[in-house]
Amino acid sequence: MNAQSVTAVTGATGFLGSRIARALAEAGRPQALIVRDASRAPRLSGASVRQAEYGDSLAARAALEGVGTLFMVSGGEDPRRQQNQLAFIRAAARAGVEHVVYLSFLTTTPDSRFTYARVHHATEAAIVDSGMAHTFLRPNIYMDIVPYWINSAGVLAAPAGNGRVSLISRRDICEVASHIMLDPGPWRGRSVHLTGPQSLSFHDIVVTVSEATGRPARYVPQTEEEAYEARRAFAMDELELEASVSTFTAIAAGEFGQVYPDVEEITGHRATSLREFLTR
Ligand SMILES: NC(=O)c1ccc[n+]([C@@H]2O[C@H](COP(=O)([O-])OP(=O)(O)OC[C@H]3O[C@@H](n4cnc5c(N)ncnc54)[C@H](OP(=O)(O)O)[C@@H]3O)[C@@H](O)[C@H]2O)c1
Repeated sequence: MNAQSVTAVTGATGFLGSRIARALAEAGRPQALIVRDASRAPRLSGASVRQAEYGDSLAARAALEGVGTLFMVSGGEDPRRQQNQLAFIRAAARAGVEHVVYLSFLTTTPDSRFTYARVHHATEAAIVDSGMAHTFLRPNIYMDIVPYWINSAGVLAAPAGNGRVSLISRRDICEVASHIMLDPGPWRGRSVHLTGPQSLSFHDIVVTVSEATGRPARYVPQTEEEAYEARRAFAMDELELEASVSTFTAIAAGEFGQVYPDVEEITGHRATSLREFLTR
């Protein structure tokens, strides 16, 4: 690593990036926060602020100048997400970034049912092809989303069949990512799979929610067609609609059920369970 190079964190206005940036600041590490809106960047000691949107190649190239290790959060739900992420990776390679720690997803096969798994696959491939060193953080679906899956009548309606999912807490991802960003060298060329401690069926999920919150919840399995119909009115565009439905059809197909030991191996504590998350 070049002695002059700086660590950079994207997504510092968001949940994960802000916590990773804070962990670096608390450890006394100088860093550059790469954000879309400088006025919303957190004020942290030792942190400079640079402005760039992933798809703006010129701004990205300037923001990435002198960066050694880069934490790259995956972008928000946007039809140009893949195109923008690939532009940012090209800018990083041109700027001479040495190591990209990319927030990917649990499964990254090109033929995954889940829309964004395919975007993560293309993004990981672009990072590998760029020649930059890489670390891929591969979390499952966030358990933080579960309360939003349940409507006001206590119904979790989804086309998840009898599938299982090893949901992960975002705070556990922050802890792992911060650990890696504080000492990235040993993580070059590695992928870490970040899951919760249990593979839960949707019946398990609603029972856990009911017991933890005291509000009864029940699972109503949908067909894929019913799920499209029910979600169409709420989706911003076709991509968001497909991503929302395919989250569950991928679970039904068994893509997101595996439990990995990586959170415990890296943090030294068991990954947070859904019950612990809901009762904290
Ligand atoms: N596994 C899952 O279940 C799951 C669920 C939801 C999201 N995700 C992914 O996980 C990521 C991180 O989660 P989070 O909770 O930290 O999300 P978050 O709080 O929404 O933060 C996302 C961050 O990414 C930045 N960002 C988004 N698109 C960008 C772009 N095109 N160029 C530059 N910066 C961009 C946002 O900037 P602004 O503040 O300017 O918007 C924000 O700082 C999300 O971005 C999404 O890709 C995964």
